[in-house]
Amino acid sequence: MVKNKIKTALVTGAASGLGYELALLLAKDAYNLILIDKDSEGLNEAKINIQKTYNTEVSLLIKDLGTINIADEIYNEIKDFTLDVVVNNAGFGMFGTFYETDWQRESEMLQLHILTTTHLIKLILPDMVKRGSGKILNLSSLAAFQPGPMMALYYASKSYLLSFSQAISNELKGTGVTVTVLCPGPTKTSFQEVVSEKTTKNKISFNMACPKDVAAYGYKAMHNGRVVAIPGLFNKFLSVLPRMLTRNRTTKIVRKIQDKNRDS
Ligand SMILES: NC(=O)c1ccc[n+]([C@@H]2O[C@H](COP(=O)([O-])OP(=O)(O)OC[C@H]3O[C@@H](n4cnc5c(N)ncnc54)[C@H](OP(=O)(O)O)[C@@H]3O)[C@@H](O)[C@H]2O)c1
Repeated sequence: MVKNKIKTALVTGAASGLGYELALLLAKDAYNLILIDKDSEGLNEAKINIQKTYNTEVSLLIKDLGTINIADEIYNEIKDFTLDVVVNNAGFGMFGTFYETDWQRESEMLQLHILTTTHLIKLILPDMVKRGSGKILNLSSLAAFQPGPMMALYYASKSYLLSFSQAISNELKGTGVTVTVLCPGPTKTSFQEVVSEKTTKNKISFNMACPKDVAAYGYKAMHNGRVVAIPGLFNKFLSVLPRMLTRNRTTKIVRKIQDKNRDS
């Protein structure tokens, strides 16, 4: 594995979608990269593509972040690096009524979105605070702002990430370390196919963002030390709308949208 004194960034879920785009932006800014994903083929391809354009060192860790104690394992492999940026991006969605969905897959999702992300941050933060510098970017979602029937655990886990990120960002004021939480709306990546893998209908096309634009927005927000980053005016409006309605009403609206766009 490569070791250096230059800027280093770690990105999870970097084999495709937003993680890959964020890795490209970091490479462009001369960061050396540690890329993590469970998709080894995709990750190798990402490394080749990044190095076609940028003269940066890229280390790959093939890990399933949905497994217990994986954060400890990763930290042991990277603890000799000085991490300037950590992007907790890996994630996936699931569609269906909670009483029918697959618990094995759901527990992997909760492990990935909540426990692994939290544990990894817990392990890397003390080094960053000691150094007085570091940037963390967590991928939440527009889903974080309201309950999400038919994707109940996905929405709840993204709410956790938003709340947790905002809270620790406040605690870190004055330390030189910042935490940014990116909350995209629907974005054209393989995420949407994974969510809809068991459905015959996927009609989300309205307000679908391009991953390059979303990544660029989140990247800039992270470098500016912004806490909550919501790309797109319409998405910003949608993020405050639940505050103007009752939670009951909001939940019913989300259900209607889900029923219109997908089936089970
Ligand atoms: N796209 C959207 O509409 C949207 C909207 C809001 C928020 N987000 C969030 O943005 C983040 C990135 O998603 P994306 O849209 O870029 O989706 P994506 O293209 O599917 O990329 C996600 C990457 O994470 C990897 N991954 C998934 N589970 C993993 C695990 N257990 N261990 C290691 N790697 C894992 C995936 O590998 P595999 O391909 O092997 O599964 C994939 O390479 C996610 O946190 C998602 O919740 C996405």
